[in-house]
Formats: sequence, structure tokens, C-alpha cells
Amino acid sequence: MSEKKNDKEQMMEKIVSLAKRRGFVFPSSEIYGGMAAIYDYGHYGTMLKNNIRDAWWKHMVQLRDDVVGLDSAIFMHPTTWVASGHVGGFNDPQVDCRKCKSRFRADHILEEFGVSADKQTLEFINAELDKLRAVGKLKCANCGSTDLTSAKTFSLMVKSNIGSPTDELKEENVVYLRPETCGGIYLEYKNTVDSLHLKLPFGIAQVGKAFRNEIVARQFIFRTREFEQMEMQYFLHPSVMKEKYDRWKDTRWQWYLEYGISESEIRWYKHEKLAHYASEAYDIEFNFKALGGFKEVEGIHARGDWDLSQHSKFSGVDLSYFDEKTGKRFIPHIMETSVGLNRLVLMFLDHAYQEEKAPTADGSEETRVVLKFDKRLAPVKVAVLPLSKKEDLQKVAKEIWNTLKLNFQTEYDETQSIGKRYRRQDEIGTPYCVTVDFETLNDQAVTVRDRDSMKQERIKITGLEEYLKEKLAE
Ligand code: GAP
Repeated sequence: MSEKKNDKEQMMEKIVSLAKRRGFVFPSSEIYGGMAAIYDYGHYGTMLKNNIRDAWWKHMVQLRDDVVGLDSAIFMHPTTWVASGHVGGFNDPQVDCRKCKSRFRADHILEEFGVSADKQTLEFINAELDKLRAVGKLKCANCGSTDLTSAKTFSLMVKSNIGSPTDELKEENVVYLRPETCGGIYLEYKNTVDSLHLKLPFGIAQVGKAFRNEIVARQFIFRTREFEQMEMQYFLHPSVMKEKYDRWKDTRWQWYLEYGISESEIRWYKHEKLAHYASEAYDIEFNFKALGGFKEVEGIHARGDWDLSQHSKFSGVDLSYFDEKTGKRFIPHIMETSVGLNRLVLMFLDHAYQEEKAPTADGSEETRVVLKFDKRLAPVKVAVLPLSKKEDLQKVAKEIWNTLKLNFQTEYDETQSIGKRYRRQDEIGTPYCVTVDFETLNDQAVTVRDRDSMKQERIKITGLEEYLKEKLAE
């Protein structure tokens, strides 16, 4: 048990350190001491995140004729969250250590002891905690004290205010930062149908920020207080729910395989305890090395007609759909796919991270760290490296960079030894390094190094762009 914990902690440390050292992810507001569970994305992290987002959008919107896009506002009418049940109902059970003041999620404590507290009542959770307390097993994971409070509810909603600063305290000026992006999709359902003349079944997809006052702020970018979700709400007649649900489950599973995740790294988790309006809910879990096991990355939920019925009721606007074939009106049912973009950044970093033996320039061996991303997700596709800073090599290398950058995210780097530059590109996950050496001036060819095999090939400059295009599409 403790060995396993060490492995996962070490792995997490390696990923966090690489992410900072190489400009993927930084702790937010670090110069002021940081903010728990909030992160900033650096140059490479932003590009990696954008590539994952684009890969999702491509499969969810671009390649389909039944899903359209949306980008709705973070602020929404406050009644939205009353209708959805979030105000007053979006809570997590919290336990505090009276000795060291650490804070824990009670459901996570119970999970460690094999008790599922998913969607359970506070009474159930406290009864289970008391059983552990009675046999001395309820201990603070930080300081070991047994002096822990009972569980109480903690709202995850992040409050803000809109209006003049003097109105700040007025209740009518309170707005919430959305805790999930799907709320905007429900509110724009009618405008989308009316403007695009859509017929059921169809989906609306969006990517955007969401905010939750998470109790436990550990696990790097797995669980943060500000994060991005990629959600798709599929509107349909209930008679086709089962068929569409199964198809979407398969579609989402295949997406992970498409981008290099293997079948053994993911699994399904079936929710046994469902919200009263839901008929089915499954999560896709990924086996994180840095978290020591399978954890949720995406939820696929059959939500019934709850969302549109509630918003119809609270807004007074009819959100029913008229089926021309049957001549009947009904409130569409919804199935959703919902995934955290930042959580996928961690998943792909975790999956791509490898340590391998590699030869050094002087013939000995060293350990190289390499991020073996799917080439489409890699932040930089090609690095152009002149062997030395000699002017004639720089000139050719800059010309190559100027051509390649029009087509691929390309980086020019002439600092340090070539060995160190290869290691740096390995740690960024760049699939191809193009080296301009003295021979280039005679044979108008360059060496192209493959990130994964480290094999080098001599390629004529005239055919370089075509060669890389083919290689990157493999
Ligand atoms: N609309 C449904 C919904 O929001 P959820 O299970 O609460 O469902 C869906 O969230 C996904 O969003 C999760 O599977 C996870 O990937 C991501 N997510 C949720 N909370 C998160 C957080 N605090 N930090 C990062 N990602 C989060």
C-alpha cells in the first residue's frame, strides 16, 4: 500500500515538475504565494490544451451533421441555478480535522474504505463515518489525529456580483459563476432551434470555463476550482434514448483510442445511484499513474426531460418541441457527454510520460524523459536546430523555419548543445527535430530525428515539407 502511494506520489511530482520546468502548467499567482487549486497554462500547455479541445470539437461537431456549436456566457440569470437545483443542492460533504485544520471530502474518506457514498444523504455518510470512528479507523490523512468533525454540507457554487460596487451586498445583484457549461446550452436551446431550424435528434456542444468551490484542493489539475468543460447535450424523443445512449457511449470510447489511449488504460464505471430524473449514467475512467489508479475523466448521462422542463417552468417559456410526423408536442429528453479539458491535459501528460535509456554524444547512456503524445496533440510539431551558431548554418536553418512555420507549429532553437536541445524537445513532446549541420551546406539535406525511435534520416531540403506532412499524418 505505502509502496504504491510512493510510486504515485513520485509520478505526480515528476509530472508537476516537468509541467513547470518546461512551461506547460504553472501554479496561479505564484509570486503572491499561489492560490490553491487554480493553475495557469504556459506556452506549451496552452497549445496542448488547444489541440485536445480541437480534437474534441472535430469529432463532436466538425465530422457530424447532427451537432452544432455554442459559446454561451459564464454569467447567467440567477434563476437558472434555482431551476437546475444547484442553489441549495450542489454540495459536497466536508469533514475537518480539529487538530491540524485539514479539510476532507467525507465521500472520499468512505471510498478509501470501500463504501460508495455517491449521491448519498448526509445521514448515511455520518452513520458510515461513525462506524469507522467506533473502531478507531477514522483518522486525519495529514496528521493522524482521530479528532475529526462529523460531515456537513459545503456549497460548491462560486458567488459573484454584478452592478455598481455600492450595490454589492444587495441579494438581487448576486450572480453565480457557472458550475457547469451545460446550463448555457439549455438556455440557448430555443434560440438554436429557431435560428438553425433543427430537427430532433440533434446536439449542441460547447467548450468553456466552469467554477466550483472544491473542498479538497490537491491532485494538481485533476480537480481545480476554475476549469474548462467540453459538454454536448443531445436532444431527442425518449423512444430513441437507449439506442442513442449506447451509440454515444461507443463514440466517446473510440475517441480515446483514436488519440493513442489503449483499451487497458480506460474502463467504464456504472453509477448505481442515479438522480431521480436520470435513467443511466456511466463514467469513463482513466488509469492515472500519477493518481495511483482509475479516476473519472468523462461522464455520459441520460438526463430525461428534467432540464428543459425545469427551465420551462421557471422561465414561463414553452420549451416543448412539435413533432411534425406525429403531430404531437413534447419536452425533449437529453443525453449528455461531459468531460473536463484540464483533466484530459493531465490524462495525456500521464499517458505520454516515459523515461527511457538513450545514448549520449560521448557514447555513454543517460535517462531521457520523453512525452510521447499523439502527433496531432503535440504542442510543437517540428523543431529546427542549427548544429552551431555559425552564420551560414543559421541562415539555412532560419529559411527552413520560415517555410515550415507556415504549415506546422515550428520552433527554432540554437541555444546549448545539440544533445541538450534534443532532450528539451523530447520533454516538450516534439515529434520531429530537423538538424542543419555543416554537411547541409554541401548536400542541401538535413537530418530529421524521430522523437520515439530516435532514428535519424537524411532528407533533401526541397522535399522536407512534404516528408514532414506525410510523417505527421501517419
Ligand atoms: N454537466 C454534467 C457535469 O458537469 P460532472 O461529473 O460534475 O458532470 C463532468 O463533471 C466532468 O467535468 C468530469 O468528468 C470532469 O472531467 C470535469 N470536472 C468536474 N469537476 C471538475 C473540477 N473541479 N476540476 C476539473 N475537472 C472537473
